[in-house]
Amino acid sequence: MRRISILGATGSVGTSTLDLVERHPDRFEVVALTAATNAIALADAARRTGAKLAVIVDETKLPELRDALAGTDCRAATGHDALLEAAAGDAEWVMAAIVGCAGLEPVMAAVEAGRTIALANKEALVTAGSLMIDAAKRTGATVLPVDSEHNAIFQCLAGNSHDGVAKLILTASGGPFRTWSKADMDVARPEQALKHPNWSMGAKISIDSATMMNKGLELIEAHHLFGLPSDRIDILVHPQSVIHSMVEYVDGSTIAQLGSPDMRIPIAHCLAWPERIETRAETLDLIKIANLSFEAPDEVRFPSLRLARAALESGKGEAIVLNAANEIAVAAFLDRKIAFGDIARIVEQAINQAESPAPQSIADVIAIDQAVRRQVGLVMPMVSA
Ligand SMILES: NC(=O)c1ccc[n+]([C@@H]2O[C@H](COP(=O)([O-])OP(=O)(O)OC[C@H]3O[C@@H](n4cnc5c(N)ncnc54)[C@H](OP(=O)(O)O)[C@@H]3O)[C@@H](O)[C@H]2O)c1
Repeated sequence: MRRISILGATGSVGTSTLDLVERHPDRFEVVALTAATNAIALADAARRTGAKLAVIVDETKLPELRDALAGTDCRAATGHDALLEAAAGDAEWVMAAIVGCAGLEPVMAAVEAGRTIALANKEALVTAGSLMIDAAKRTGATVLPVDSEHNAIFQCLAGNSHDGVAKLILTASGGPFRTWSKADMDVARPEQALKHPNWSMGAKISIDSATMMNKGLELIEAHHLFGLPSDRIDILVHPQSVIHSMVEYVDGSTIAQLGSPDMRIPIAHCLAWPERIETRAETLDLIKIANLSFEAPDEVRFPSLRLARAALESGKGEAIVLNAANEIAVAAFLDRKIAFGDIARIVEQAINQAESPAPQSIADVIAIDQAVRRQVGLVMPMVSA
């Protein structure tokens, strides 16, 4: 029995994780579940899985959560400490699936407690990558990559000497606007940007896929997870999303991981690691797929790629600025306060204006993040006017 907790249990990755856990009740015991506001879905998942702790971040929802859990032995809780308790409590395996930098402190609590962390929350790694990896080495925590690209690379590296790696190749679907003109993209509406051609995901990552900031964040994520410099991590557009990423070795071999675009596959790999479990995800029908195609990424139509690579190469705290400005801009776009084309402009402006020394601690990361949020909040209406 693996004792697990799921942070962000009501989201896209969280519910896919629950789907797998509920298919394998003989293998997993749920200790704690968390959500931001969705008390009913949280209580429902806690009832189904027999979780012992359910944490809701929005404290006004605590009475609703308590009511919905009446008659169970699941404790309802709210507040920062309760969230950290869910992350660092009794579970040996923690799914980190909170969206955004809000997930950083819970992830670090799990790392400090030496847990095995299935990391979906890429923003935590983007903002505090070196600090997180150093802490994991110190505490003995294991960080398993859930993001399909990084999970693919993790699988392609297994059993091979890391000294023989020439480069990593991150594949990208290109998102819903892969073939759109820049002028059309500039005025795209949220419902168009949310329509990912291959993957079904939460709203924030869907918009990041449309701007291709998602691939930029993944570039930074790959650097921290696998320890390679920016110039040895390529991005390759592959519209079918069949190859999830590749590793090229010095002897000329390139190893790829393939699968249908279903997050249950990489989540299951982390859940059962180092074993394998059945997922019921569709298997590949390569005769039906017939063709796989590849394109170079276009950094003119998708400036977020250039911004993310520059932030990584700066070696300072620019990735924190990039991430915070992007989170605010994406939320504003979803609220219809700014245009699609404003997102990358706001991020670039924030990077040009913010102070971003290399963070020495998680407190430094949070201070830079908060300063950018205040600054971008002031700048944004001017940009979109
Ligand atoms: N979705 C995918 O296929 C996918 C693939 C690879 C990586 N990822 C990464 O996985 C993470 C989660 O993505 P997602 O698509 O699952 O997001 P999502 O569907 O929006 O779910 C986010 C989860 O986090 C909770 N949450 C939101 N804000 C929070 C806060 N401030 N504090 C604590 N909890 C909060 C939400 O609770 P409520 O439901 O109550 O709001 C929900 O449980 C992201 O970092 C994303 O980049 C996702």
